[in-house]
Amino acid sequence: MCGIFGIVYEKENPAMGAVLVKAGQRLTYRGYDSVGCGVFHEDGSTELRKDTGKIEDVDRRYSLSSLSGVRGVMQLRWATFGLPDQRNAQPHYDCDKNMIGAHNGNIVNTSQLQEKYRAEGHTVRSDNDGEMVVHAIEKHYDKGLPFEQAVIEAARELEGDYACVIGDIYTNRLFTVKMGSSLFLGVGEGFICCSSDLPSILDLTRQIVVINDGEFIEFSATSYTIRDIRDGHVIERASELSPLSPENADKGEFPHFMLKEIHEQPKKAADLLHFLEASREVDEFVNAIHKARRVFLVASGTSYHACLQGAYYFGKLAQLPVCVAIAGQFIDLFGDTVGPDDVLVCVSQSGETKDLINVVNYCKRKQVGRILGIVNVLGSSLMIRSEVHLPLVSDLEMSVPATKTFMNQIVMFLYLAAKLAQKRGLPGLNTAALTADLPRYIKETLTKAETPCRDLAEQLHAVEDLYCLGYGLCHPIAMEAALKIKEVVYSHCEGMYSSEFKHGPLSIVTEGYPILFLGTREDSGMLISHINEVTCRNGKAIAISPASPEIRKNASQMLELPEVPYYMVPMAATVVIQLLAYFMSVRRGIDPDFPRNISKTLTVD
Ligand code: BG6
Repeated sequence: MCGIFGIVYEKENPAMGAVLVKAGQRLTYRGYDSVGCGVFHEDGSTELRKDTGKIEDVDRRYSLSSLSGVRGVMQLRWATFGLPDQRNAQPHYDCDKNMIGAHNGNIVNTSQLQEKYRAEGHTVRSDNDGEMVVHAIEKHYDKGLPFEQAVIEAARELEGDYACVIGDIYTNRLFTVKMGSSLFLGVGEGFICCSSDLPSILDLTRQIVVINDGEFIEFSATSYTIRDIRDGHVIERASELSPLSPENADKGEFPHFMLKEIHEQPKKAADLLHFLEASREVDEFVNAIHKARRVFLVASGTSYHACLQGAYYFGKLAQLPVCVAIAGQFIDLFGDTVGPDDVLVCVSQSGETKDLINVVNYCKRKQVGRILGIVNVLGSSLMIRSEVHLPLVSDLEMSVPATKTFMNQIVMFLYLAAKLAQKRGLPGLNTAALTADLPRYIKETLTKAETPCRDLAEQLHAVEDLYCLGYGLCHPIAMEAALKIKEVVYSHCEGMYSSEFKHGPLSIVTEGYPILFLGTREDSGMLISHINEVTCRNGKAIAISPASPEIRKNASQMLELPEVPYYMVPMAATVVIQLLAYFMSVRRGIDPDFPRNISKTLTVD
């Protein structure tokens, strides 16, 4: 997964490099194997500077910020096709260096196109699929087709999901194409820009044009034309004022986005609950679930763990059994059985995770499954493709490890389960009380847990291998805890249902081997059994649960959660495991916002 950004001014801008670098910094979470900036000058000349490393490093080595230009293209790369080296860094030139282009996504027929274009006489300089986009357009443009026609012809040769931005030295405009990867257009005073994601645009303008798949846009500094990639017919669409605020793209007084976003959770949960209380879509969403033959909760990564939590809430509160599916596994496991009366609740912070978009596209092709979306980024592919969607209202999440969006996903599921219980005449939760109380409990946990989490992080930060076990309602949070520790601490931490641990994994326990246990007080009976299976073999059992003398007596040590109602214990536990992972990461000298090898949104298979 990568990030692209392109901008057109009316005249040469000496600050072009600074604009491109800042855009890249806003998109860092999309990839940081390499970065490049290509600029067009008013006199028709170009410059292209790119190399491996994060944008600040490459800026230092190549003075990216000092570039001027009337048009600029920036690309951040998370390597898929081609090693993460300078040769494969983007953007790319065409053969004669009259064009500069970059893409985000996956051109799956790259190797065939490399052979084809080389055979047709093209100078192919890299192994990177983004270069194929440039040669595909160049090939048809050099035949004398208008640029927009060359884009249409090129799209017919490119297979896969991508978004790209490209321009030539002859006209002060850029073209940008959306074919399955995220892309937005920003309309400002004296400039127009495009980007893979909103954070890089919101610094410049909040006037946003939503672009749909299969559309491409020709834009200058003062106007834009949207066309259909199939036949070029023009589509009229005005820009809209985005509700998202650029302030979220700054750390403020926090050392890292991750800590800032953890601390935003009480407010973001309150924002979401107030939104849901006033939303008309909630009833439509709940009705669809109520009437479904089967309900699947489908997601990847942290969002998948939120779905695990959703299954508990729907089961316990609304007496509704649901099937939780890993997005990448869904088609293989359920694709042959999903039917038109089934409902898929697709959960994604970015709304661009390809594993999930593949599921959505599959169901639409087979005309099975009603797609309901729970998504944070408005205008994203999942939002556009959903029959009904509910926003997470978390605002921009800049840190690669998801925190506040996860919290709002589980808050969303608790709310929806409560509404479904009401609809089914079951005793449930009063959503007004939930709205009033839950943000306060999250805030209280943040306040009380900071010091104990720092202390526990000091104790555990050097541990290379540990387990995190959960029982009952907190099992999904144990799974999320293990992922957070893997993501930002680089230790191996396995999450597991605590009753499963004795069926094999228990063999790993030696003197002092650390195991985190998460559970509610209501689960203390089982939790104590599972704790003793570890402590009787001299393992170290660290319990994270609401106060319980029995658990305290049996565990090696305990981190107490504040007194919160049963259904809200997962939210309190979430704050604790997020802070624990964060402090362990920082104690190891790792930047938790941009961990190695991973990316915020993976738009590749
Ligand atoms: C991964 C991210 O790439 O995608 C995770 O590193 C995230 O943090 C997962 O949970 C799913 O992302 P999304 O946007 O579909 O929720």
